[in-house]
Amino acid sequence: MKDFLAISDYSSDEIQDLLDVAVKLKKEYFEKGNEPILKGRVLGMIFQKPSLRTRVSFDMAMRHCGGDALYLSPNEIGLGKRESIADIARVLSGYVQALMARTFDHAHVLELAQWSDIPVINGLSDYNHPCQGMADALTIIEKFGSKSKGLNISYVGDGNNVTVSLMHVSALLGWNVTVGTPEGYDLNPRAVAIAEDIAQRTGSRLTFVRDPHQAVKGAHVIYTDTWTSMGQEEETARREQVFPPYQVNAKLVSEADKDVIVMHCLPAHRNHELTDEVADGEHSVIFQQAHNRLHAQKAIIARLFGVA
Ligand code: CP
Ligand code: NVA
Repeated sequence: MKDFLAISDYSSDEIQDLLDVAVKLKKEYFEKGNEPILKGRVLGMIFQKPSLRTRVSFDMAMRHCGGDALYLSPNEIGLGKRESIADIARVLSGYVQALMARTFDHAHVLELAQWSDIPVINGLSDYNHPCQGMADALTIIEKFGSKSKGLNISYVGDGNNVTVSLMHVSALLGWNVTVGTPEGYDLNPRAVAIAEDIAQRTGSRLTFVRDPHQAVKGAHVIYTDTWTSMGQEEETARREQVFPPYQVNAKLVSEADKDVIVMHCLPAHRNHELTDEVADGEHSVIFQQAHNRLHAQKAIIARLFGVA
């Protein structure tokens, strides 16, 4: 495949293969440093929204493997405003060897891919966050190892871009997914239909509930994310009223499996969707998860270039 735009564009075997490459590159990095498999390659990084993890982990992934990265800020590019997306894609295809884009509209990342001659990686859109989903799966596999078949993954909170990629990767890997959202904040129905199609093939079980307590029953993973995603800031006051029953706190965690891990893509709004006590407690894997962005993305880039 030319691009990495959605986890659901890949088969279970392809996702498992990417995760195997990530494990190998992570081991190599800590044992002796990575080989310069990306030497002479530059990743152009288009950002329409802020970022800590995505920006730094992609930049460092390129550097660790002998390549380089170029940050292009919203003001510089003016995606679709100063210049058409099709023209930007065709110009950058002659300057850099791959593109990573963080956009508002998912159609914009698709349009970049359509017009680029080079691989395009989705670094988060309003629809999904596939690089996050890969790092999440890597973390879950590291924690549960060979016992990872049949795991129960529970997401509570806003049905958003991060949830879509978590649901798709989980369904592809045969994990059961329960999503607990308040009314009006459900997952994108198109993403749910895709997940249901995958689940039919892999035997994964998908459940959608309103009650956060029901959502975490028997959970091996509890996952949450911000109640207000980037671009929804004007809805913050309303969302702060709706979401408190979905807070991941010690009481909710105590209702899950005793060995449950707690995940969050970060940035976290502490004591809103996730309490300090849980974020810094024994079940939390949030920093391991953030660090795994680096390793998962190295695998994605290496596979797109055909060098791993
Ligand atoms: N999780 C994540 O994508 O973080 P950033 O927004 O900081 O990149
Ligand atoms: N759902 C969040 C994820 C941030 C990494 C957002 O889109 O803002």
